[in-house]
Amino acid sequence: METRMWSELLEPYHQAVDELLVKFKHVREEYNQRGEYSPIESVIGRVKRISSILEKAQKKGIALDDIEDKIEDLAGVRIICQFTDDIYAVRDIIKNRSDCEIVEEKDYVTHSKKSGYRSYHVIINYNVETELGTKTLKVEIQIRTLAMDFWATIEHSLQYKYKGKLPANVSQRLNNSAQAIVSLDEEMSAIRDEIVDAQNSFKIKARIVSEILNNIQNLYRVANDREVTKIQDEFYEIYERGDLDTLEKFDRELDHIVEGYHSQSLPAFDLGDD
Ligand code: GTP
Ligand code: MG
Repeated sequence: METRMWSELLEPYHQAVDELLVKFKHVREEYNQRGEYSPIESVIGRVKRISSILEKAQKKGIALDDIEDKIEDLAGVRIICQFTDDIYAVRDIIKNRSDCEIVEEKDYVTHSKKSGYRSYHVIINYNVETELGTKTLKVEIQIRTLAMDFWATIEHSLQYKYKGKLPANVSQRLNNSAQAIVSLDEEMSAIRDEIVDAQNSFKIKARIVSEILNNIQNLYRVANDREVTKIQDEFYEIYERGDLDTLEKFDRELDHIVEGYHSQSLPAFDLGDD
């Protein structure tokens, strides 16, 4: 196949990956906006390189004409989660979307592969609108925790280095570390509530601080410098103490001060002063 033909063939797959990245990032954003925990930690995607497509086609005896039908991961998206349970939440999110039709599911999380590999795979049918009309294509979505991703990345590099023939000692160590990853995910799940609490209060703090700084900036326009400087010093002092409740109280008080200035500066035409 000519290079130009490859580009044409793969263009809709690039579009699919780009679109899905945007969509899943916005799922995460929606959770954040609602102040809720997002089961999606991060999303990456790629279109398979031509050299890898050729290699896979050759290995599996797939004719070039059948590539789109028989290679399901021309477009690949990987969704990374913090906790094992999140994987199933993400699977359900995908299931409920009208733009993703799941055609195959593989649960290597509860049934890990012999290599020790763990991940949840779904193949979806996904429609892209192209210049030539609607095209339905397959996308492979891999859903895994940060820890599973770490292991898979290392294992993949080692497989590449040893061309798939791992020395016994390396293989043994990979097996041990796969076990360690299972324990790590279990331990993290056990203290999940505490971790999520800590992350939430971090986000709340960031929101309050940005509200306060915004208000202080607005005050500079209407109040005298000495008063604003005093408020700012007070803020730094409270911030350094690190107590979230006090910071929240200060935020509310500042809101009142700003509102006070705002009502003072309202046009006076309806007050009938004279
Ligand atoms: P492929 O021929 O690779 O498509 O295998 P398959 O059709 O049986 O699909 P499977 O769901 O097993 O694997 C799909 C993808 O998962 C692979 O292309 C890899 O990205 C990943 N994967 C599967 N097994 C392993 C593994 O043992 N180690 C690592 N690092 N990744 C794996
Ligand atoms: Mg496959």
